[in-house]
Amino acid sequence: MKLDSLDGLMKPKSVAVVGASATPGKIGYTVIQNLQKDGYKGAVYPINPNATEILGYKVYPNVTSIPEAADAAIITVPAKFCLDVVDECGRKGIKNLIIITSGFSEVGDKELEEKMVETAHKYGSRILGPNIVGICSNSEKFNGSFAPFLPLEGKSSLISQSGALLIAIDASSYIRGVGFDKLISIGNMADIDFADLVTWLDKDENTSCISMYVEGFKDGRTFIEACQKASKPIIALKSGVSAHGAAAAASHTGSLAGAAKVYGAAFQQAGVIQAADLDDLFDRSLALSLQPPMKGENLLVLTNGGGVGVLATDAAEKYGVPLKFAPADVQAELKKHMPEFGSAKNPVDMTGMAGNEWYYATTKFSYAHKWVDGLVVLYCETAMTNPLEIAQSIKKAVDDSGVKGKPVTVSFVGGERSVNAMRWLVDHGIPAYGAPDLAINAIAALREFYKMKEIVNEAPISCEGFQYEQAVEIINKARTEGRDSLTEIEAKQVFSIYGLPVTATELAKTEDEAVALAKKIGFPVVMKIVSPDILHKSDAGGVKVNIKDEAAARDAYQTILKNAKAYKANANIHGIAVQEMAPWGTEVILGSVNDPTFGPTMMFGLGGIFVEVLKDVTFRVAPVSQNQALRMFSEIRGAPILAGVRGEAPRDREALADVICRYSSMIIQLQDEISESDANPVLVYEEGKGVKVVDARIILKKKA
Ligand code: COA
Repeated sequence: MKLDSLDGLMKPKSVAVVGASATPGKIGYTVIQNLQKDGYKGAVYPINPNATEILGYKVYPNVTSIPEAADAAIITVPAKFCLDVVDECGRKGIKNLIIITSGFSEVGDKELEEKMVETAHKYGSRILGPNIVGICSNSEKFNGSFAPFLPLEGKSSLISQSGALLIAIDASSYIRGVGFDKLISIGNMADIDFADLVTWLDKDENTSCISMYVEGFKDGRTFIEACQKASKPIIALKSGVSAHGAAAAASHTGSLAGAAKVYGAAFQQAGVIQAADLDDLFDRSLALSLQPPMKGENLLVLTNGGGVGVLATDAAEKYGVPLKFAPADVQAELKKHMPEFGSAKNPVDMTGMAGNEWYYATTKFSYAHKWVDGLVVLYCETAMTNPLEIAQSIKKAVDDSGVKGKPVTVSFVGGERSVNAMRWLVDHGIPAYGAPDLAINAIAALREFYKMKEIVNEAPISCEGFQYEQAVEIINKARTEGRDSLTEIEAKQVFSIYGLPVTATELAKTEDEAVALAKKIGFPVVMKIVSPDILHKSDAGGVKVNIKDEAAARDAYQTILKNAKAYKANANIHGIAVQEMAPWGTEVILGSVNDPTFGPTMMFGLGGIFVEVLKDVTFRVAPVSQNQALRMFSEIRGAPILAGVRGEAPRDREALADVICRYSSMIIQLQDEISESDANPVLVYEEGKGVKVVDARIILKKKA
């Protein structure tokens, strides 16, 4: 079904208010009042069966009687009347319905909500909400909400899943001096979701940054795709960090896949910057909405105070844009604008003697210099300087530099004059903050945006060329035997179909067969019990390693069988796996879950105690590109171990990244079959020497 564009929702030329009320204090009254007082220029059609006039507007008894099919209808009638109103709007040809009313899926009535969406779609209409505050748009002077006023004007637009938070952000925009063009309450997302709004806002000429407060998505993949296609910066504050889906986990990966980690991964892949908290959402949105991305890594800091310079240096390290000394020619030029005792390295300390001229000269030169990819200008209020004049010098210097497309952020530390000067800067397009670390954090967001977009724009990996049917055959065989997991041997067969380098493993049904296989594979070997009833083989005494000769193989065979029977008398034993004993390497774990929001998702971490105790793992929604996989390695605390510590050679990260790509292709192709899986341990060797998957586990999806 083709559903119309959201233009009529976001920029309505006329609006009906169904449930408009003449009684002050009611939401249906407030919406009419807001449309009027905040200067909405379109036609307003209040609808109420009992009133004739509200705030000077003519009132209509029902939707059918208004003179035109309005672009949008704001609905403020109680829940039990909403379905009829949606239908009436559809018949009238109103395509955009802003349903403020509460009392649907959020209180358990999903059915009524679904019926409304079904009815709306029948007419090609869309629903925003229900259970929302409404929409505020500065560029349209449209306050179609019960928020008290339009927010401070600004260039970012915010989508909020919490109505109360939206109202709070509206009011605090004035206190913080961070404005928005639009505030959109998204509520229950019965129909229009984040993905729809991201797609629309990305084309909106009045929005330069898309900010969002997220509690959870219904369809994570649609969100990722919409964000990947968007060209504007997107920043999200996600609440709710509790684990989900972990309770019934049958794999290591399943027990470690908390919502926060998977969402964090999805945001990265979507190219969405994360805000640490509400303050951060404001701060980073401001920079992202006013300044271009930072395309290189060279950040220069100008300051008149050593203290703020050091704070900025620390913050630069923390936020991933560490300062480097400026090249000699840059230092030589900057030296001309400071006393002998100043420093032209980086941060460039002009000392407390810096006035308008020095700020102007150093800013203009630095901003224009090709070495500088981003500039942060710091200022501490002194008695000899006027903050507003300093601000004006900075702005003029940037304009006069003749350069465009580089980011600059500013921090003024001082009193009221500094606060006012910063407001002036923001009004003139330069984000300014009351602390040096905030200015650094802001420019770091612009750097992050650039880097993320680079990765997002990589060609997606292809899933072709693997023997999907063969893998399904192995899985179906297990299913016909009534099993919901594969044995290690079967799991390894599936892994090798996808090109994962598993240790050579074969099944022995007798002691003699075990000896013959051990000789074929070559001593030393490992022997393991193979039984669908024994998932934790080591706990059952079902694993023997470093078996060096025939006698040891015979002994191991008997001991493992005896242990397994003692562990579970009636266990169905397929036999004993004889496998190649892989040489020692760095142990890592790979795994997958089928996340309820994002679907097939990969995990990577260092093995052993790193995963058991420290839970030092990271995630990506599949498919995972080679570069994304390489990025995963730097995200864990144990990253230096893969890079090579204490004189050890670096590990083969390229080979490991390739395995992650292949693994992710496997869980995408087999998403209807695999519920969770682990490759644990995977041994990673020195660069150029590859990796080996030593153990494998695949838990199957339950089929109806
Ligand atoms: N067409 C037009 N008007 C209708 C109507 C219909 N089919 N059915 C009822 N109305 C009118 C009513 O007559 C009333 O007008 P009145 O004041 O002149 O009598 C008006 O619609 C509102 O109905 P009322 O029964 O008075 O409800 P209310 O104003 O107390 O509450 C809601 C209605 C929608 C505000 C309330 O049900 C609700 O959902 N509140 C929560 C909203 C919220 O917080 N949303 C955001 C969450 S973040």
